[in-house]
Amino acid sequence: MDVLAPHEWRHKTIVAGVEWKNPVGTASGTFQLDACGDYYDVAQLGAISTKGVSPVPWEGNPAPRTAESPAGMVNAVGLQNPGVDHYLVDELPRLKALGATVVTNVAGHSDEDYAQVVEKLADSPADMLEINVSCPNVSHGGMSVGTDPVALSRLIKHLRTLTDKPMIVKLSPNVTDIVEIAHAAVDAGADALSLINTLVGMRIDINTGKPIIANRTGGVSGPAIFPIALSFVWRVRQSIPDIPIIGIGGIDSGEKALEYLYAGANAVEVGAAALIDPTAPMRVARELDNLLDSRPELAAKLAKGQTW
Ligand SMILES: Cc1cc2nc3c(=O)[nH]c(=O)nc-3n(C[C@H](O)[C@H](O)[C@H](O)COP(=O)(O)O)c2cc1C
Repeated sequence: MDVLAPHEWRHKTIVAGVEWKNPVGTASGTFQLDACGDYYDVAQLGAISTKGVSPVPWEGNPAPRTAESPAGMVNAVGLQNPGVDHYLVDELPRLKALGATVVTNVAGHSDEDYAQVVEKLADSPADMLEINVSCPNVSHGGMSVGTDPVALSRLIKHLRTLTDKPMIVKLSPNVTDIVEIAHAAVDAGADALSLINTLVGMRIDINTGKPIIANRTGGVSGPAIFPIALSFVWRVRQSIPDIPIIGIGGIDSGEKALEYLYAGANAVEVGAAALIDPTAPMRVARELDNLLDSRPELAAKLAKGQTW
């Protein structure tokens, strides 16, 4: 596949004071610089959300870690990554040297884990932090924090004292009331919200009767979750008019991205679609840029960073 030619972006967005060249970024865990950098100029995207960064290297969960599902996939990678020290000397400088707007996704098993990563990133060139309190594939931290408004509030209040960087809190759909969790994050100091992370799901091998994924359950992503994720964004936007929102879930076209903007998102991130076609985020960005040409009021609102 050839490198895609540069595009003259006409419609930018602003998320928590940070300018994105267009409203489309990559979703955490689905972008790899070494793979995607061959297909397009990563600085051309709205932002790159990196895979989750933890205080020390994590091996992730045992294999098999993925399974197919109708209209998507189930994964239990478990936040495998080389740790924040490696990220600071390797991936982040490379992304910044290429001119990318970088959203560093932060992972932890405990409040202290998150705090260590945020402290180390405080003086780094990362443009924004995305606190992942919503991973269903780790036994401590992740979703266990993101489903408890009291624990979430405590964590975000503490992280707020450690950094001046714009802090996005990434929410889990695996909750009874997303609006309550969203308010907890915003009241504690989140500058923006991203939603959603994956929904808990599983597949079973009918020859053995056993779960396909070694972790048994995993996170469902892809087109199957699109209408669900869209409704989460809409519900949060109805309740919180003035917080920047990044919509995530099942986006594989400019049209779907546009639905998120109409639901109240200021930007979107493309995830599983990029695992099938690495150029998907760039294609979606171009399609959306063209669609926004005939929607000047929406485009103007995005360009000013207006929320609702
Ligand atoms: C293989 C894989 C790894 C992921 N890793 C992370 C991660 O490290 N941190 C995070 O916040 N979300 C992670 N996610 C969730 C995605 O960023 C996204 O929220 C989710 O997949 C829904 O979007 P999609 O339907 O476009 O894939 C991961 C998803 C997949 C499929």
